[in-house]
Amino acid sequence: MLTGDFSRPRRIVLDCDPGHDDAIAMLLAHGSSAIDLVAVTTVAGNQTLEKVTCNALSVAEVAGIDVPIAAGCDRPLVRPRIVAPDIHGDTGMDGPVLPSPRGVVDDRHAVDLIIETVLGSEPGEITLVPVGPLTNIAMAARKEPRIVPRVREVVMMGGAFHGGNRTPTAEFNVLADPEAAHVVLNEAWPVTMVGLDVTHQAVATPDVRDRIAALGTAPARFVGELLDFYGNTYRSAQAFPHPPVHDPCAVAYVADQAVMTTRRAPIGVELTGTLTTGMTVVDLRGDEPAECRTQVGVTLDHDRFWTHVVNALHRIGDPT
Ligand code: BDR
Ligand code: CA
Repeated sequence: MLTGDFSRPRRIVLDCDPGHDDAIAMLLAHGSSAIDLVAVTTVAGNQTLEKVTCNALSVAEVAGIDVPIAAGCDRPLVRPRIVAPDIHGDTGMDGPVLPSPRGVVDDRHAVDLIIETVLGSEPGEITLVPVGPLTNIAMAARKEPRIVPRVREVVMMGGAFHGGNRTPTAEFNVLADPEAAHVVLNEAWPVTMVGLDVTHQAVATPDVRDRIAALGTAPARFVGELLDFYGNTYRSAQAFPHPPVHDPCAVAYVADQAVMTTRRAPIGVELTGTLTTGMTVVDLRGDEPAECRTQVGVTLDHDRFWTHVVNALHRIGDPT
């Protein structure tokens, strides 16, 4: 599906709702030599917009991330807001003691920052990586349709083709704003859906935890503290022995396509179901359609994925 020059770092806008796994996605995007993190935008999701934006600033402080961080939509397009304190706590990033951020939130609305970044870059240069509800990305496409053909691709964490997490059939990010997901999946840009089918393979096993702890840096300790809290909630709320870190999977795929296998398939979002609202319906029947703009992640190379995370943390070092 992708063409172009892979020898240069891929320029991305990370749209997120930190969020424990969002924080790790920010660290991976910042530390990866294959990624050029251009901006971070926030959206209401795991917690309110105010809380997740504050968390994004704290992550930037921990890792020395110095890019614009802009706050976006504080609610979904149509439906009432839902948040996820059962997984992420009251702050949206409970667990670590967070540093007071020195950075400030960018003056621009996230939707405008996304639009300006895409229009101000070469066509095909910017990849959008939404790892929260898709509200900002849908709004950007609607507000300024000229961005759509200029975006290289959208690599989203959300959805699933084998059952949900927030409901039996729906994944949290898509359930939180299904109309926005519908807009994003139906625009004329290429979309890779990195859903639960992949991200549930990205579990932070004890050997992974040891590799991170061995780095001995402040950002690595921060990840350890994030995983302590997140591991506990995933054990009690979702019965996972070790927690799956969803959002960094989308970033890792942008950095290195070999981290995940994919399959082209049409993807629909259930908007009117009573039991199935927010379900991503992926048509995996028959051969892969050659012309399909959407694809789904299928299997993750666990070791390759975590090596990217560990290498990124190593590269970040001890910035403060
Ligand atoms: C998604 O929901 C959030 O809780 C996580 O940050 C991730 O983006 C997983 O369903
Ligand atoms: Ca997220």
